[in-house]
Amino acid sequence: MKETKNIIFTLDGREAEARPDETVLSVAKRLGVDIPALCHHQAVTSYGACRLCVVEVKKGKRTRIVTACIYIPADGDVVETGNERVNKLRRIILELLLARCPEVDLIRSLAGQYGVDASSRFRVSGSAGAGERCIICGLCVRVCAEVMGQHAIGYANRGGKRMIATPFETQTEDCIGCGACVFVCPTNALHLEDIGGKRVMKELYTSMPMMKCTGCGREFATEKQIEKVRHCLPAAHDKIAMCPSCRRAAFRDAAGQALI
Ligand code: SF4
Ligand code: FES
Repeated sequence: MKETKNIIFTLDGREAEARPDETVLSVAKRLGVDIPALCHHQAVTSYGACRLCVVEVKKGKRTRIVTACIYIPADGDVVETGNERVNKLRRIILELLLARCPEVDLIRSLAGQYGVDASSRFRVSGSAGAGERCIICGLCVRVCAEVMGQHAIGYANRGGKRMIATPFETQTEDCIGCGACVFVCPTNALHLEDIGGKRVMKELYTSMPMMKCTGCGREFATEKQIEKVRHCLPAAHDKIAMCPSCRRAAFRDAAGQALI
């Protein structure tokens, strides 16, 4: 039978309670304990890519390092989120990230917090696709697949050349130009620009036509986005081709409250 009882464990010396299936990272956030976590987002499944959220878990005599975004504590676990062993590992990870993405402010700032400077022992390697700003956290891939249901982006190559790309590094039919990947990217490796009636996402080899709002005439979404919403919400057909402000103005109840 599935465990339904809450878990009692120790987090940085104090008693903590986790719901069954709740990760250490989630409990830590709830209790205001800061654990750096670059590849985690509540909207998608955890993937354990960046390894920055490492913490130490003691179970009886056994001690091991786990990723807080994936690890579900057990009764009696003693978790330490910032001891010397953990901080040393985070410093190595940050040194590697800094070698890969020396220009990313977020990485520089995290590195600074852990006393890691720009003189990395590791070779600085340029990466293609999203350029030298991509840490291969996979958030864009997961949000595209799990939230948007599009599966337009994936991984290409291996090792230091691993990168985020569309299939065959060309524009893919699966991309609707929603920009969820751009929104979720922690390092601003992906960009979206609306120019000349088109939405352009250069790192994803994508350019597609925009749609004008039937109310104000402003270009507000791509044609493919609207097509997708029409497909998902056929009952709202007449409201879909309007931008959010025109929609709010057009659909109000008798008291003047926006209905959508
Ligand atoms: S492009 Fe951004 S979201 Fe996608 S893997 Fe790279 S850093 Fe992560
Ligand atoms: S946030 Fe846990 S491995 Fe990246």
